[in-house]
Amino acid sequence: MIRKIAISTGGGDAPGLNAVIRAVVRSAHDYYRWEVVGIEDGFDGLIDAKRVRELTSKDVRGILPRGGTILGTTNRGNPFKHTIKKNGETIVQDMTPVLLENIQTLGLDAIVCIGGDGTLTIARDLFKLGVPVVGIPKTIDNDLSGTDRTFGYNTAITTATEALDKLHTTAESHHRVMVIEVMGRDAGWIALEAGIAGGADVVLIPEVPFSMEKVVRKIKQRDLTGSRFSIIVVAEGAKLESGEKVIIEKGSDGYWADRLGGIGNWVAQEIKKRTDIDTRCTVLGHLQRGGSPTTVDRVLGTQFGVAGVELVAEEKFGWMVCLKGNEISSVPIEEAVSKLKTVSPDGQLVKAAEMLGISLGR
Ligand code: F6P
Repeated sequence: MIRKIAISTGGGDAPGLNAVIRAVVRSAHDYYRWEVVGIEDGFDGLIDAKRVRELTSKDVRGILPRGGTILGTTNRGNPFKHTIKKNGETIVQDMTPVLLENIQTLGLDAIVCIGGDGTLTIARDLFKLGVPVVGIPKTIDNDLSGTDRTFGYNTAITTATEALDKLHTTAESHHRVMVIEVMGRDAGWIALEAGIAGGADVVLIPEVPFSMEKVVRKIKQRDLTGSRFSIIVVAEGAKLESGEKVIIEKGSDGYWADRLGGIGNWVAQEIKKRTDIDTRCTVLGHLQRGGSPTTVDRVLGTQFGVAGVELVAEEKFGWMVCLKGNEISSVPIEEAVSKLKTVSPDGQLVKAAEMLGISLGR
């Protein structure tokens, strides 16, 4: 018998999070008449201070078009390896016993956990400890297995495509090479789909190691045939044939990944060195994560939120909602977090790009 549920948002934010929160609150509180609380800042809000607040329809009014998450989030919060700084020292502690006690004290019958690979891995591990959790998949990278799409992705590729359209006109006017670095740690979905939609000449993705010689050859070829500018999209996780990536900060605890960035500038410098063509780099960064969600992400987020509440009603704990084709369905969280969903180097999308003349640097 469900009486009270909690919602939490973890990991990097994604446009559409508030649509999910609104849908969970409306369907759980107004439809099922359960009590609903929001946990602040991911799992951290369930640890020391119990930062938990009641949510009713009034609290989620007007949030559909808002980016971010009204509950707050954190990219590093992990109750299994909770980190605090004391007298300049970093202390790492397993806080799950405290978390379990707080779930009891608060009388939570279920937690709807909205997150990507890192957050849902924690959710899976909490489920193994007996926490009644259901998952809702979120990531702008679209790299989570078990679902065809995640909300946030459509907004991210829309932003990236708009940026490419803008870079085109200035690249053409100045006869320049424009490199744009987009997000995509392990998967090149954003780079590839925005690259196709924005008419890029070169797209470099983590799944297809690239050679600088091949990239340069493509640019020179264009120059020779009268196209005096080129547009290059680089996913932040793109790597050279030697396997090298540009890493800003190493991930530390097995749940959170390395912080990437810098490959765009590196590629731009190499092009300038090897061709002497004026080259600039734009790092799109968190612009891809911020702002109002597209219609597609609002609808998908809403459907996921309602489906998450249905999973709770069925007491299908340890499961995650997903999109299969055009249908909303569900899979065990375990299936979603065991392996990332990456671009197939021999798949239809890559083939289409190459047949259009887009070089993947191979
Ligand atoms: O996983 C989503 C993502 O946007 C990645 O594409 C990117 O590598 C990462 O988050 C950036 O995280 P942060 O906001 O911590 O820099």
